[in-house]
Amino acid sequence: MYKNIEEAAQYIQSQISHQPDIAIILGSGLGGLKNEIDIDLKISYQDIPHFLKSTVAGHSGELIFGYFQGKKILMMSGRFHYYEGYDMKQVTFPIRVFKKLGIDKLIVSNASGGVNKAFAPGDVMLIRDHINFFPENPLRGKNLDEFGPRFPDMSEPYDLKFLQGLKLVAAERNIPVFEGVYLGLQGPTFETPAEYGMVQRLGADAVGMSTVPEVIVAKHQGMRVAAISVITDVGGPDLKVPVSHEEVLNAANVAMPKVISLVSGFLKNLDQF
Ligand code: HPA
Repeated sequence: MYKNIEEAAQYIQSQISHQPDIAIILGSGLGGLKNEIDIDLKISYQDIPHFLKSTVAGHSGELIFGYFQGKKILMMSGRFHYYEGYDMKQVTFPIRVFKKLGIDKLIVSNASGGVNKAFAPGDVMLIRDHINFFPENPLRGKNLDEFGPRFPDMSEPYDLKFLQGLKLVAAERNIPVFEGVYLGLQGPTFETPAEYGMVQRLGADAVGMSTVPEVIVAKHQGMRVAAISVITDVGGPDLKVPVSHEEVLNAANVAMPKVISLVSGFLKNLDQF
């Protein structure tokens, strides 16, 4: 495992001219963020040793290197999901490689279903905490001591200073944002009304099929994480609202300008957060 991570990192290192300041993972329908980057170089997943290929429509599969608000960015376009059939080590492999490249900051974005009654489709939720409801933990098995401890602290999975920074940017730019807890389920089914009810009662504000594994691994290796979720639909035990992948992408589109502005303001002042 460690050797594979090293080989992937070495290949990427041989292609890039400088180390990125921060990595950004693009969520469903949030590809518009790519247009904001002054692109230096793209590396297709298929060219990187031991990297997987992404299988979902709307996720392409490349690492993009460039500049955004003067910061050196590594953007991951196309992430791996547990529901695609990969195991958790595969899903989180890129996060290990990022650390090996010397990156210690991560912005994660995703699309999620809201269960907080205050939410509406197209809203943006800053993730303050999560509940791991996947059937597996990415750290299960032999601990990679080179990266972090056997029993990692999870008292602050999402960096509080980053969260405050995002809230500051939102306030300054008049971007309406919520703050809440994200619960990760394996999918690929969207939730039944009863499952939305369960998510609500478990204390989460939104539910989705990604993010939690990546954040666990990022925290294990001491990375600081900020996460932004776009609410694409709102469900509950008494709501029968059909959800489709198209609706998810449409709602993400509506929220796109807010997400771009948030990330842009955040990166601009990154050194202060
Ligand atoms: N559940 C409900 N709605 C969603 C999800 C999900 O996992 N992902 C994006 N919108």
